[in-house]
Amino acid sequence: MGISFQHVDYNYPGLKRKDFTIALQDVNLDISENGEFIAIVGKTGSGKSTLMQHMNGLKIPTRGNVVVFDNVITPKPRKNPKMKNIRKRVGYVFQFPEYQLFEETVLKDVMFAPVNFGFSKEEAKEKAMNILKLLGIEKLASKSPFNLSGGQMRRVAIAGILSYDPDIILLDEPTRGLDPKGAKDIMELFYKIHKETGKTFILISHDMDIVYEYTNRIIVLNDTKITYDGGKEELFKTDIYKENHLTKPEVLKLTDYLNEKLNLNLGYDNYNLDMLLNSLKAVTKHE
Ligand SMILES: Nc1ncnc2c1ncn2[C@@H]1O[C@H](COP(=O)(O)OP(=O)(O)OP(=O)(O)O)[C@@H](O)[C@H]1O
Ligand SMILES: [Mg+2]
Repeated sequence: MGISFQHVDYNYPGLKRKDFTIALQDVNLDISENGEFIAIVGKTGSGKSTLMQHMNGLKIPTRGNVVVFDNVITPKPRKNPKMKNIRKRVGYVFQFPEYQLFEETVLKDVMFAPVNFGFSKEEAKEKAMNILKLLGIEKLASKSPFNLSGGQMRRVAIAGILSYDPDIILLDEPTRGLDPKGAKDIMELFYKIHKETGKTFILISHDMDIVYEYTNRIIVLNDTKITYDGGKEELFKTDIYKENHLTKPEVLKLTDYLNEKLNLNLGYDNYNLDMLLNSLKAVTKHE
């Protein structure tokens, strides 16, 4: 098992002891290190980032345990395992990761984590160059990370996490602020790595179109609690998504519309417009 939450609560401390904010309540979750592409969704302030920060030891539960690759994280800090071992296996791409760039060159920035996790300089350089190539930004290697466009900076920051090859990759709103093409390119890249390596990806997103296209399991948070954990089709077939302040993906709105207007029975297993178009062609040819 990759990551497991057992009755986890988390409170943010306030100025006074009594003034804490409850961010998570009784969270139970099992996440495999293999084959999952999970979305964490829910309205702003529902606890998504707080939940994700527990997955690599950035937050320690107030109550309950989080188990990450057999390392048990408990509310007692002194008993806790070495976080470095956990962070090496579970990589975290923060919201606006470009704010964390700091080295003189792109290459040095991407090499930083592998060096920190014990790879030699040569190995780190090789890993960094490979990942820059994969992301199509190897030409930027000797540039300063501060003289890049926002989208390029985002890629460099993502390269910094992928460079040390973590088993599970956490993504907190990786497409936020990118133009539609930039967002699609980055999602396609994560999806490709996921398909090729089987690595589990966990994505926080407010974009239901992206969530519906790429993920295979959705976890919904509503006001500190998990209110849904399961398949994407089931979530949008019932009213659960509305009760959790989510909007229907565009492809499903169009599916509903076509079914109604043309009296068809197109399924919710078309995860993007191309898939829907192909299904539509297939049924109309039959008639
Ligand atoms: N540093 C903090 N100190 C105190 N309270 C916090 C802190 N960070 C978050 N909170 C509170 O914890 C709750 C959950 O916040 P969190 O950031 O996990 O939500 P989120 O679902 O990621 O929201 P968003 O979609 O806006 O990113 C909210 O009530 C928030 O106000
Ligand atoms: Mg957040």
